[in-house]
Amino acid sequence: MAIRYVVQVGEPILRQKCELVKKFDKELWDLLDDMKQTVRAEDGAGLAAPQIAVAKRVVVIDIQEGYFELVNPKFISQKGEQFGPEGCLSVKGKQGNVTRPYKVKIEYRDRFGKKHTLTAEDFFARAICHELDHLDGVLYIDKAVDVVTVEDKD
Ligand code: CO
Repeated sequence: MAIRYVVQVGEPILRQKCELVKKFDKELWDLLDDMKQTVRAEDGAGLAAPQIAVAKRVVVIDIQEGYFELVNPKFISQKGEQFGPEGCLSVKGKQGNVTRPYKVKIEYRDRFGKKHTLTAEDFFARAICHELDHLDGVLYIDKAVDVVTVEDKD
């Protein structure tokens, strides 16, 4: 396992549409392990593979509700609305308010290729929406009504 460099806004990889994972093999498991280590080292709520320069549809989420590995995730439904602040490990030192659905249902595969569904609401739903956007080259700053510089908490 290794902590990977988190690419910053301006890098073309962050704007790419990522490819579906077809092989649930050691290469994927190594990627997921690196993403777990990286998101924890960076104290993030989530991380998408393109943020460590891998254009694959892989996301990890690390929040109060638990730690989740989402491979080839896609929305089944989105309901309601919430408005609130977001930041991104690829847009360091910034924060912006974004409108997101309040509740989402997704379908995804785990690291072994098994299919699951997951329902999330509130911040969990926001984190999923933010990370899934990364897989299509979309950043929260594209959707935020305002982006402000925040003090570094470290
Ligand atoms: Co992000």
